[in-house]
Amino acid sequence: MTNWISVALPKGRLGEKVYARFKAAGYPCPSIEEENRKLIFENPEAGIRYFWVKPSDVAIYVERGAADIGVAGKDILLEYDPDVYELADLGLGKCRMCVAARKDFRDRTDRVLRVATKFPRIARRYYASISRDIDIIHLNGSIEIAPILGLSDVIVDIVETGKTLLENNLEPKADIVPISARLIASKVSYKFKYQQIAELCRRVESLSEKG
Ligand code: PRP
Repeated sequence: MTNWISVALPKGRLGEKVYARFKAAGYPCPSIEEENRKLIFENPEAGIRYFWVKPSDVAIYVERGAADIGVAGKDILLEYDPDVYELADLGLGKCRMCVAARKDFRDRTDRVLRVATKFPRIARRYYASISRDIDIIHLNGSIEIAPILGLSDVIVDIVETGKTLLENNLEPKADIVPISARLIASKVSYKFKYQQIAELCRRVESLSEKG
């Protein structure tokens, strides 16, 4: 099993696109394409094993070496700062981290700003960079509700199409950082499986949509 490459894939739409990219790069795994609820899939001919994991857990599997490589959003890497190598930007899952608020929101700088987010570290770092005092309200999802109910003044969240903001009468107020999916590797695996990981990275990266 030492020559196998194990890959933690983020479950969901992004993961499907990532698998399609790996398949096109020469790492197919027919069993993953079958309709079932399994979480681990292997293709002995290609020497590859895929796992579906929760997107925010990919970096944990890779950091601890349970997966040799994985694909995680830059948002997760910035928020959790895992001890892994970031090998490539796959150009998939492009979106941006934004500050958003109600359309009629006017910031009063004499008050502490209440910020609802799933990404407290990114939010703290951003507001420290502009020297703004904030109070973080750490939520786990449906962040857009917070300013509508008066729980927060603004949100720091991912915006992809902008539809969720629009449909909830919110608008982006500032861009913090662009986000996309990154290929990451375990530091130990990168050392001991260097040839295979470097080859896989080269092939997968060569199919990236640039720009
Ligand atoms: C993300 C994000 C926004 C939405 C943005 O939520 O938190 O709610 O997608 O996408 P849009 O700009 O295309 O509308 P996700 O689907 O991850 O669910 P969540 O509510 O659990 O954060």
